[in-house]
Amino acid sequence: MTFDFNNKNVLITGGSRGIGKATAQLFADAGANVSITFRYGETEASQVLKLLGNGSHMSYHLDLTNPEAVEDFFVRYQKDWGSVDILINNAGIFKEHKILESSYTHWLDSWKETLDTNLTGAANMCFFASKIMVSQGSGKIVNVSSRGAFRGEPDCPAYGASKAGLNAMSQSLAIALAPHNISVHLVAPGFVETEMASTVLNGSRGDEIRAQSPFGRVARPEEVARLVAVYASEGMQFTSGGIADINGASYLRS
Ligand SMILES: NC(=O)c1ccc[n+]([C@@H]2O[C@H](COP(=O)([O-])OP(=O)(O)OC[C@H]3O[C@@H](n4cnc5c(N)ncnc54)[C@H](OP(=O)(O)O)[C@@H]3O)[C@@H](O)[C@H]2O)c1
Repeated sequence: MTFDFNNKNVLITGGSRGIGKATAQLFADAGANVSITFRYGETEASQVLKLLGNGSHMSYHLDLTNPEAVEDFFVRYQKDWGSVDILINNAGIFKEHKILESSYTHWLDSWKETLDTNLTGAANMCFFASKIMVSQGSGKIVNVSSRGAFRGEPDCPAYGASKAGLNAMSQSLAIALAPHNISVHLVAPGFVETEMASTVLNGSRGDEIRAQSPFGRVARPEEVARLVAVYASEGMQFTSGGIADINGASYLRS
């Protein structure tokens, strides 16, 4: 399948590495003007921009846990680009906080940081992007969820909860924004070969995790990027509110 996003303004959070980087590459190759955000990875983000090659692409510093920073970011973004055709809420964190082993402080910190980033951060991005999309009469939002929302995350319960919340939030927005010609979709990957999952995949559970899929492997970031692009494509409006699994048949929900 080839994609055509010629001259579309695409905004991807967490584009400095992993799935966000692969997604930025796919959209740039398909002709989009790509903006990526990063939190700490300024050097990585500039390297991604170089990889994207010719075309109009930019990177922005943005800490999603800071609501004022999100508001300020959109003022700058709108000055630079004027419109946002596609928003991809990809940035996220995955931090271990086992219920029986964590101190209460670590438990509280993990819940706060995880929800602020994965859920409220994405909600705030939708808040400002949807205002622009309503004024331009159309828009597409794709949010990166996780298999963990359905299967559970015993070592990272806040992560599972944040992604379940992201699903519910996105489906609510799909209803609220449909009259404005805006679609909201979710993709839900199982494990993906990125920095986020590297400790687990390179550790003692790596083989067991790969064996969860009958394909005997985890997803590649490029595969997730393709699924995001499908939902962001023209002609996919009526699937709004949908959640697409990408987990190599490792977890089949009904
Ligand atoms: N990898 C997996 O196995 C897997 C499975 C299911 C779902 N997912 C989801 O896929 C998405 C991408 O994951 P990934 O594996 O590509 O992760 P990754 O390699 O760890 O990259 C995460 C990205 O999010 C950014 N980020 C983190 N916290 C941020 C914050 N507070 N403000 C702004 N940006 C922030 C990071 O920026 P800096 O580099 O600048 O810190 C980085 O660009 C996440 O939502 C994740 O939950 C991943």
